[in-house]
Amino acid sequence: MPRHATPSDIPTPSTAFKASDHAADGKHHILLAATGSVATIKIPHILAALAAYPGISIRLMLTASSLLFLPPLTSLLAATPNLDGIHLDHHEWPAALSPESYIAADPLPLAPDSESERDLESVGFNSSIWTRVGDPILHIELRRWADILLVAPLSANSLAKIVNGFSDNLLLSVVRAWDTAKPIACAPAMNTLMWEHPVTAKQIAVLESEWSWFTVLRPVEKVLACGDSGSGAMREWTDIVQWLVTKMKLEKAESDQ
Ligand SMILES: Cc1cc2nc3c(=O)[nH]c(=O)nc-3n(C[C@H](O)[C@H](O)[C@H](O)COP(=O)(O)O)c2cc1C
Repeated sequence: MPRHATPSDIPTPSTAFKASDHAADGKHHILLAATGSVATIKIPHILAALAAYPGISIRLMLTASSLLFLPPLTSLLAATPNLDGIHLDHHEWPAALSPESYIAADPLPLAPDSESERDLESVGFNSSIWTRVGDPILHIELRRWADILLVAPLSANSLAKIVNGFSDNLLLSVVRAWDTAKPIACAPAMNTLMWEHPVTAKQIAVLESEWSWFTVLRPVEKVLACGDSGSGAMREWTDIVQWLVTKMKLEKAESDQ
């Protein structure tokens, strides 16, 4: 069986991501996110379809659970010319990868001298991890960079956390720190009984009726991966891409038209 994605596919980058470095690239900035739903297997299809749009820069943000449903991440980067970055929890917060190494670290100094900077590196921090006031903070930089966030699929777990304001991973921190003048779209995907649970309706109602910056691309009915039949399946990935193309007025390369 082919190996699935793992956090070590994309080590913490050696330079920090800064939105301002990309502000003048003249591209639409699409922040695509996936969560721990089987429907994450559609992400390579979504990326392949978006590769036909040269005027966009894509960054992919993945929860830890979503990795189970993806091929090695370097293969996604190789296959998608306009996929300019993949962002994982440990790129912001080393404990997400190795709690032991984080616990071993001294408390973060606000203005470390060169000696303590070396100490941080030796326990897993490097130059893209926040070490001092003024360093870029990944979830804030991603929010600044993005013109739109598309979460496809959105798991029941992440839906609940978003609506309740949780921010204990990179995706949730971006959503929590979002500039509500910019759009977020999400495509929930879950087992039929999860979708039909009354708590789901309450959470979806918040997104649809109270949070104007959110668009919910509602699930469809089909036989799900678990064998149950009914609503809860992620909207067809082609419909999701078409929604994005229309929303962002994306244009294909002339040779693809
Ligand atoms: C094989 C498998 C398939 C799953 N499919 C779904 C799904 O389609 N939707 C969902 O909401 N949760 C699904 N789950 C459960 C989530 O992965 C789990 O709730 C996880 O904590 C979600 O984490 P995240 O929201 O941080 O990605 C699945 C779990 C497994 C093991």
